[in-house]
Amino acid sequence: MTVNDCLILDLPKIADGRGNLSIIEENKHIPFKIERAYWIYDVPGGDERGGHAYCTTQEFIVALSGSFDVVISDGAEERTFSLNRSYKGLYVPSGLWRVMKNFSTNSLALILASTEYDEHDYIMDFESFKKWKEDERSDSL
Ligand code: TYD
Repeated sequence: MTVNDCLILDLPKIADGRGNLSIIEENKHIPFKIERAYWIYDVPGGDERGGHAYCTTQEFIVALSGSFDVVISDGAEERTFSLNRSYKGLYVPSGLWRVMKNFSTNSLALILASTEYDEHDYIMDFESFKKWKEDERSDSL
């Protein structure tokens, strides 16, 4: 997986004078089955979340309210995705380092995940992550 495998996906938006409505169905609007949903809120100004990779978990991240950046690294390249619409989200495949930062006041991040929570799925150390990706790249040559 590389940073180019991350995708901003458009969700359906049913515009209505009474308020808009958007939808996420598993394996339809996002490319995996949803096993878990969690959300991040009340992030103090300037703080960051994430700073790890998952071996198997895929995620879909939506800024339900406000805005924030998701910085993705594959060990060789880094890309920043800015999320600020509740009808768009970022698909993050497994095997990528991700950091969430620049949260606006009152922002609300919804994260849908393809697995149940498992602390053993995390890679918490960037140097180990880089080494893993280097090995992966040299294996594929
Ligand atoms: P973590 O994934 O490290 O948060 P972030 O990447 O946003 O910094 O999780 C923070 C804490 O919450 C950690 O103690 C594990 C716990 N947690 C769960 O129990 N279940 C979950 O689904 C998640 C995502 C975290």
